[in-house]
Amino acid sequence: MQISRAGEYGVLGLINLPAFYNATVLDHFLNPRNVGDVPEPEAIGLAGEPNCGDAMRLSLRIQNGKILDARFRTVGCGAAIASSSMATELIKGRSVEQARQFSNQEIVAALGGLPPAKIQCSVLAGQALRAALEDYEKRHPGAAAPRTECAPQKPAPRRRRQG
Ligand code: FES
Repeated sequence: MQISRAGEYGVLGLINLPAFYNATVLDHFLNPRNVGDVPEPEAIGLAGEPNCGDAMRLSLRIQNGKILDARFRTVGCGAAIASSSMATELIKGRSVEQARQFSNQEIVAALGGLPPAKIQCSVLAGQALRAALEDYEKRHPGAAAPRTECAPQKPAPRRRRQG
């Protein structure tokens, strides 16, 4: 992986990023996937505190109970941006039900770990996803409920005419 000079020493030149983050985290931080907004999203989730710091907006395109696209906008540190990027990659293609089981530990594992002080930064993505799924449920009540197979219906017995 090629790291720009800014990435090598941090955008402000204050932090030696490769000594702080592993290569996967750095890659998702410096080349985040799925940045932006899904056009006409079926769900939007907000997490964090936009007025005073870290915040994430997640928008989802969902069809037939499946997440087809996920985009994010995050204000936060490198770990928060890398976690947001990885979260969108992990949830695309999952059913809404599967996405409900999603946790930030999955993000941390997929990133190959985060510095202990930065684990909390991955929580933002899990919170934004939960908020988005709640928004989806409000907009489409019952749409995300688990589907149960219907037993084939037997035709009703014909009644004989009397008389
Ligand atoms: Fe605030 Fe990481 S998001 S320190």
